[in-house]
Amino acid sequence: MTSDSIHGMWSSRLMFILAASGSAVGLGNIWRFPYVAGENGGGAFVIIYLICIFLIGIPIMVSEIVIGRFARKSPINAMATAASKSNASRKWQLVGWMGVVAGFMILSFYAVIAGWVLSYVFQLGSGVFVGISGESAEQIFKGFVGNVWEVLAWFTIFLAITVVISARGVSAGLEVAVKYLMPILFFLLVVLVIYAAVTSGHFLEGVNFLFSFNFEKLTWNSVLEAMGQAFFTLSLGMGAIMAYGAYMPKDASVIGTATMIALMDTGVALMSGLVIFPLVFANSLESSAGPGLMFITLPLAFGQMVGGQIFGCVFFVLVAFAAVTSAISLIEPAIAWLIEKLKTSRRVAALIVGVCVWLLGLGSVFSTNIWSDLFIFDEMTFLDSMDYVTNNIILPLGGIFIAIFAGWVLSSMILDSEMTLDGWFYPVWKFLARFIAPAAVAIVFFMALLQV
Ligand code: PFF
Repeated sequence: MTSDSIHGMWSSRLMFILAASGSAVGLGNIWRFPYVAGENGGGAFVIIYLICIFLIGIPIMVSEIVIGRFARKSPINAMATAASKSNASRKWQLVGWMGVVAGFMILSFYAVIAGWVLSYVFQLGSGVFVGISGESAEQIFKGFVGNVWEVLAWFTIFLAITVVISARGVSAGLEVAVKYLMPILFFLLVVLVIYAAVTSGHFLEGVNFLFSFNFEKLTWNSVLEAMGQAFFTLSLGMGAIMAYGAYMPKDASVIGTATMIALMDTGVALMSGLVIFPLVFANSLESSAGPGLMFITLPLAFGQMVGGQIFGCVFFVLVAFAAVTSAISLIEPAIAWLIEKLKTSRRVAALIVGVCVWLLGLGSVFSTNIWSDLFIFDEMTFLDSMDYVTNNIILPLGGIFIAIFAGWVLSSMILDSEMTLDGWFYPVWKFLARFIAPAAVAIVFFMALLQV
């Protein structure tokens, strides 16, 4: 199958890399990675996370790209087509369905956090954080998320931006945006790492916290969290990369491309940690402060920096862009499927998806204010529960099925033709996809369950 997708195509391999990195690099790296690492004790968690990226994440990313690029359809139909061309049951499309549901659930809380980011663009720009103490930074954060109307408004604005961009198609506009914004984000992160290294006086403490092998603190539950974070940060297990793979040109090696994306993504996550933890220690904040961590430490740092008002404002703008380029990939599987199913326009499809996500997102909007005492699982608000269930259960489960499908079910004729450019990495990938990735996910699930 060499034809193009009806949804459009990336103009080159580079554009695919940019779009897929745009999907991967997002709130998961800058907001979620540091706080989840903090809650799970740091070092050992980070090591497990890195192992998961390389042994489980990259093989699954390759599997998603191969399936998507072969079928050139939405993940639901791509799974069905790939299965029937391999003489397997079309029921495999259920994996695509699971991904669409996960996409809705993730975006419903992702857009709420991205709304916080948007609000912080203006708060930093206004100068309220200039010269502020850690305690007051915490108070400003709590005051903001406690205000239901403000959170609702920013959430709605972010979702609307996402829907509008998706409705226009993943066009040159977006490709161009990613091309310029990602390098600037990278550059600003490097500046912040240097700032943290030079001025915080606690840089080594931060490094130690992130990289010391303190395995006593590690529980199976935190291993599950590390694995979930690896899936989330690489946008795996729900078909986002499969959808993007459907628009990828044939003349690119899959494994090389996937590895590059994973390395870039990991770099951004580690740098975020190296910015945030030295500041946490320098200001005697809690490393396990939870979802608010970034919203307290970063404004604090910017507030003490020369030119921090502008700098901080720009930084949050870039984080917001990183969030948008991830958000559009979260709804792409659902939109592409609706277009194929209803033969409707992209606009209508995007609007339908947007409204559904908005309704579901209300639960997360309320989680820090009127529903802050409502716990779904133990001690977890609606927002926390959405996050926990998708990252730690649905994405890894989707990932297992995708790896097993690509490794065992997909016909070798299809595989051979998709992987001609991958040389000896091809058998290595096959081994990881067939045995290591599914077994590792299964073991972590099983042990975490036993422990509860
Ligand atoms: N990878 C994104 C991030 O790290 O922020 C989040 C994400 C995007 C997860 C797309 C899943 C997905 F399909």
